[in-house]
Amino acid sequence: MSDTHDDESRAPGEPHGPDSDGAGPDGTPWRNFYGRIHGKTLRPGQKEALESDLGPLTLPGVSREENPERRPLDLGALFPGRPVWVEIGFGGGEHLVHMAARNPQVQILGAEPFVNGIAMLLGKIRAAGVENLALHPGDVRDLFDVLPEGRIEKAFLNYPDPWPKRRHHRRRFVNQGYLTALHRVLAPGAEFRVATDIPSYVEQTLREVPKAGFTRVEHPIGEAWPDWLSTRYEQKALREGRDPHYMTFRQA
Ligand SMILES: C[S@@+](CC[C@H](N)C(=O)[O-])C[C@H]1O[C@@H](n2cnc3c(N)ncnc32)[C@H](O)[C@@H]1O
Repeated sequence: MSDTHDDESRAPGEPHGPDSDGAGPDGTPWRNFYGRIHGKTLRPGQKEALESDLGPLTLPGVSREENPERRPLDLGALFPGRPVWVEIGFGGGEHLVHMAARNPQVQILGAEPFVNGIAMLLGKIRAAGVENLALHPGDVRDLFDVLPEGRIEKAFLNYPDPWPKRRHHRRRFVNQGYLTALHRVLAPGAEFRVATDIPSYVEQTLREVPKAGFTRVEHPIGEAWPDWLSTRYEQKALREGRDPHYMTFRQA
């Protein structure tokens, strides 16, 4: 059983590469990704959706192959006149599609490397008929690299991988490496929402996010946002008796 994903669709994560980020021999950043990229065998319909829908929905210019110089994306040309939001690790995509449907004037970018999650999302996009989503099927840090500074108006981090063992806490999203990259791309005053069921994750979030330059917006920590849609991982946490915590910050 993995200590990040106890969902049965995931096998234990195998870290690859050295245990810290650094630079490869050609100077390109080496980033460890400890999560899972593949899970259960995909159903034929999911394979078909990946083949036909993922390409058109993929945000161009994010991968290193496509943009080795890491030129910033021209969001104004890609999504003229639209505010842009980001969801980090959208899992099965229920919250992402819900937010897209509720906010048709907004363009939402979702990053998720887990292929089975992406396949689930594609099914939901077809069913909901939303057209204001673009995806990066990979590590959100590659997306942060190419987002222009100060342009993203909202970011969601819902039930990030918990990494419960203390020695693995440095793999959590709420570390300065991820947070400073997020802070750079968010617009001044932009909202950053974090939901988690893990008490030590709450502590780390409340300690590390302000250090990266965010200000906490006070509200009862057990109270979900009015436009919240409970995710798959939240439902699992609730079934297993763990309490959701919701935290809001502003880029400041
Ligand atoms: C515990 S799951 C939660 C999924 C979903 N947000 C939910 O609430 O159901 C965490 C997700 O974050 C994704 N993830 C982990 N590291 C990531 C990274 N560096 N970039 C993008 N997604 C990442 C994982 O693949 C996984 O699907």
